[in-house]
Amino acid sequence: MHPAFDLSPDLCYLNHAAVAPWPRRTVEAVTRFAQANGRRGAADYPAWLATEQRLRERLADLVQAPSPADIALVKNTSEGLSILSQGLDWRPGDNVVGIAQEFPSNRIPWEALQDEGVTYRTLDLYATEDPEAALEQLCDDRTRVVAVSSVQYARGLRLDLERLSATCRRLGILLFVDAIQSLGAMPFDLNRIPADAVVADGHKWMLGPEGIALLYVAPGLRPRLRLHQFGWHMIAHPGDYDRTDWTPSPTATRFECGSPNLLGIHALEASLSLLQEAGMEPVAAAIEQRIGRLMDLMDQAGFEVLTPRDPTRRAGILTFRVPGADHPALWRGLLVRGVVCALRGGGIRFSPHFYTDEAALEGAMAITKNTLLHLP
Ligand SMILES: Cc1ncc(COP(=O)(O)O)c(C=O)c1O
Repeated sequence: MHPAFDLSPDLCYLNHAAVAPWPRRTVEAVTRFAQANGRRGAADYPAWLATEQRLRERLADLVQAPSPADIALVKNTSEGLSILSQGLDWRPGDNVVGIAQEFPSNRIPWEALQDEGVTYRTLDLYATEDPEAALEQLCDDRTRVVAVSSVQYARGLRLDLERLSATCRRLGILLFVDAIQSLGAMPFDLNRIPADAVVADGHKWMLGPEGIALLYVAPGLRPRLRLHQFGWHMIAHPGDYDRTDWTPSPTATRFECGSPNLLGIHALEASLSLLQEAGMEPVAAAIEQRIGRLMDLMDQAGFEVLTPRDPTRRAGILTFRVPGADHPALWRGLLVRGVVCALRGGGIRFSPHFYTDEAALEGAMAITKNTLLHLP
């Protein structure tokens, strides 16, 4: 087992596309934070704010944003996408283009605009060989937004966001990226992918807890989004409690209405410190090695791989089917035997991270074959 983790040796943990285990240093950071709260209350609040600032810096670095002031810390991906969807000045007849197989967090905020006369047009990913071209074909002169995941949660298809962002630029359409399935697993560079917004919760590939998410909004778009949440924290002069006039903060904190989630902030800051020490390029290469290895083992076993074989078209997700098997039963059998994985996209989804060892990969495959023998 990797020294940075304390995972129970009886688990093959292949579920980072769902909820990741915390690294040791995250467990320690949360423990220290809890003890400090118990012993000293908020006496050291300025140090906590320094940790918050470090987290913004780490997140800005993770997406190569121009400044930490461009990073808002929100509750989750759904909240970030709702800030975007509810913030734009829609006109009846506008449309949003997305993908039919998206996770509901990136579908429902767009469907919820129906009462405003906005339609949500979706691409059936399983009916196209060229998703970027097919998304462009769905766009017309009333398309305001293309909203997609960088990596599809169910079968792991990675979109070519450089190409899609160039298309959106050319057509004058905003590009919003749900990057929860790629941030922490691979580099993301806003200089190469000039998305108008990027959103991702911390509990998957970033190895953090649930309930603390990154929301990047391009500085030019920020003041154009109508705000729906208000409070002491989102104004230009927070903490100046005697002052009665106010304007929204010019920075991304305008999207953070009240007190920060400092517990989550301490945890995610610690988790990202591990990933950034490891380096996102080596992390991505390690994940690709593990996916490649699993794919070989699946080919040897005669399983059907549903994830694209082209390494540029995938990230950390590998979804497979066993011909003729009852997949819900297989998944339940795997969970009982300690293979932590998910039932997604019509098959079983394995999602190893950079630290996952060979024993976990081989163990998961051996247990899968064994479980199949015991299915009715
Ligand atoms: C693509 C995608 N978006 C969003 C989420 C989670 O959304 P939230 O952070 O709102 O819980 C998931 C979780 O499975 C996901 O796979």
